[in-house]
Amino acid sequence: MPHDRAARLESGENSDILIDLMALLSILCYPDARLNKIARPVEAIDARLKALIGDMFETMYEAKGVGLAATQVDVHQRLVVIDVSETRDQPLTLINPELLWASDERLKGEEGCLSVPGIYDGVERAAQVRVRALDENGQSRQIEAEGFLAVCLQHEMDHLAGKVFVQYLSRLKQSRIKAKLCKQERQAQQETARQREPL
Ligand code: NI
Repeated sequence: MPHDRAARLESGENSDILIDLMALLSILCYPDARLNKIARPVEAIDARLKALIGDMFETMYEAKGVGLAATQVDVHQRLVVIDVSETRDQPLTLINPELLWASDERLKGEEGCLSVPGIYDGVERAAQVRVRALDENGQSRQIEAEGFLAVCLQHEMDHLAGKVFVQYLSRLKQSRIKAKLCKQERQAQQETARQREPL
């Protein structure tokens, strides 16, 4: 559902973004095929990208998420924003992130996703990872992570590769999730249609 302040971002490099206004972005909902697009590397850290980063953080905080990949707002560039802090004041921007190393040790944790509302399930991931990325100022940095941050990094980088966490679940679970989310979507559309009916 588009929010009244939502800025419509065209996918592609030529979209115009108002840089003086923060805006909430629409988050694509699984099983939208656009979630399976593979993101391209960011080529320039310019004003437009910085505006997008600001909007993605605002959208993520508003949705009470801990991570958001550009893919989820239909911008297919390698950009991720994360904040796993309790205090919601430790924003982490990753531009063109690369996985340098993943531990053989695995852990299975409960995951959810802003693109798969209301669904949580166990996914096995590497327990520790090392990731290299540029920050919002174009500085290259390496992040060593374990636990929840490690899970979050892998989950968000999967989005950039066109992968949603439910794709790790059994086919049966995937069909159930699709059916449930499609039903929710239909109900929302019917609700909107009812509201439009003249009295
Ligand atoms: Ni997600």
